[in-house]
Amino acid sequence: MSDVLISAEEIEAKLEEMGRAITEDYQGRDLLMVGVLKGAFIVMADLARHVDLPVEFDFMAVSSYGAATQTSGVVRILKDLDQEIAGRDLLIVEDIIDSGLTLNYLLKSLRVRRPASIEVAALLVKGGIQRIPLDVRYVGFEIGPEFVIGYGLDYAGKYRNLPYVAVMTDEEAEEVLGQP
Ligand code: IMP
Ligand code: MG
Repeated sequence: MSDVLISAEEIEAKLEEMGRAITEDYQGRDLLMVGVLKGAFIVMADLARHVDLPVEFDFMAVSSYGAATQTSGVVRILKDLDQEIAGRDLLIVEDIIDSGLTLNYLLKSLRVRRPASIEVAALLVKGGIQRIPLDVRYVGFEIGPEFVIGYGLDYAGKYRNLPYVAVMTDEEAEEVLGQP
């Protein structure tokens, strides 16, 4: 039914690789992994289990899209971090980076709080014309411009629980929009 783009097995292997790199890079440092809700909750949980360090976790929630499939450029912080981040080594965990607007906004608002460092890990980075050039340290997969769902990624709130990443089919789009 779904148009699988990246299988559960491929994702798992990639997260293991990313986790190993993070484990090496953050030896002896004060790592705080920051998940960007809601999309990153699955990536965060699976990636974190491949990080062999005394890491701590926090979450932020931002909203950029509403129910549309195009970014609006408007980013709202719906939930801020629970803790102070001055002097800490932050790793922002994202499900997907498209235009880069969401991440750019987040980075700006976190840098003024003076963390020791900020890096980014994203499962997916969309190719094509990225409006904002961003330095993403850990990238899972680069994909095309198509709209994808699953593994945390939603269309109008649905499909986050698919265990793989799929290109959304017309049927899936209609199924969501057809609901009351
Ligand atoms: P950006 O601000 O354009 O980089 O968009 C980032 C956010 O838009 C992500 O955190 C997702 O919530 C959402 N997004 C972008 N592309 C997709 C997609 O293909 N499927 C689902 N959500 C997406
Ligand atoms: Mg979303």
